[in-house]
Amino acid sequence: MKPWLGEEEAQAAADVVASGWVAQGPRVAEFETRFAGSVGAAHGVAVSSCTTALHLCLHLLGIGPGDEVVVPSFSFIATANCAVYVGATPVFADVEPEDGNVSIRTVEPVVTPRTRALIVVDQGGMPADVEPLRRWCSERGIAVVEDAACAAGCRYRGGPAGGAADLAAWSFHPRKLLTTGEGGMLTTSDPELAARARRLREHGMSVSAADRHRSRQPVLESYLEVGFNYRMTDLQAAVGIVQLRKLDAMVRRRRELAAGYTAMLADVPGLRTVRDPAWGEANFQSFWVELGAAYPLSRGELLAALADAGVSARAGIMAAHRQPAYAGHPHGDLPVTERLTDTTLILPLYHAMTEQEQARVVEVIRRAAGLRAA
Ligand SMILES: Cc1ncc(COP(=O)(O)O)c(C=O)c1O
Repeated sequence: MKPWLGEEEAQAAADVVASGWVAQGPRVAEFETRFAGSVGAAHGVAVSSCTTALHLCLHLLGIGPGDEVVVPSFSFIATANCAVYVGATPVFADVEPEDGNVSIRTVEPVVTPRTRALIVVDQGGMPADVEPLRRWCSERGIAVVEDAACAAGCRYRGGPAGGAADLAAWSFHPRKLLTTGEGGMLTTSDPELAARARRLREHGMSVSAADRHRSRQPVLESYLEVGFNYRMTDLQAAVGIVQLRKLDAMVRRRRELAAGYTAMLADVPGLRTVRDPAWGEANFQSFWVELGAAYPLSRGELLAALADAGVSARAGIMAAHRQPAYAGHPHGDLPVTERLTDTTLILPLYHAMTEQEQARVVEVIRRAAGLRAA
């Protein structure tokens, strides 16, 4: 991944510096409104990262010690960690082999009477089928949080993915399409949750620093509950506003490049490319391929062959349950998670990628399988 940043973002950040107001202020408020609007969410609360947004989501739901939160192990470790932050227990669910996301089939076996929430991830920019899960969970009194870290620009059942969630958490890390350097957003349909999230990200203060600054009279704030410093800065938000204008073009270009990979790798034996699910459109934040037994190289050998050709690819999505941080943490069988994490790799894909660059990646993969260039 290479972020698509340019002069416009540099100028937007420079304007904020010149304004003298660099912390959370008017640019953050504007970015929140614009981002929430673009994903069809009623409220957006900008924060310092998706990790802090996820923490706030579970905190807002009142989840704590003794509670269980079902999460896919097949995700960046922050998805599981946020349950630990609130003193709850993450419970690992397996994922579907096609899209790498949880489903009722994979969640049902790990739900217990102590399950309070499910975190559904749109893994690598592949929209999860959240509606059936939402209905199933609501019948059982289980809250659903969408980890939409990778989902900006994804489509789900004809609309933007993530926007309809009761609570969703987004990431603007440079590994995502839309970046603010670091940064995140919590979106919600609930005005009360949004108001409380706004307060919690700013130490539980009754009046924001920006409102205090605008007031002509001295304003004494009070601290209504124990909160956090999870604020985004105006410098970040100014960059985000420009990036948001470019998001549609980013998704278009990524989908073109993904279609190119799919076509040029279609006849490679033992290689499966990720593709749109029946219920939506991916933004192809991570274009992953799975290597089966019919492909002549192991994942490690192919990564090495790509590196020798000057191509930077990556091993696929991690499995949190295998990390030292979760050593000894009980879990059931996670066969699809373990297979995908062992056999997938993520190919280079970035907005400015040329057809020649892509052809070089494809050639290494095809040559290793004894095939001519596409
Ligand atoms: C699925 C998922 N959740 C959460 C995160 C954490 O995002 P951030 O780096 O903004 O805290 C990531 C980042 O890679 C992610 O991919």
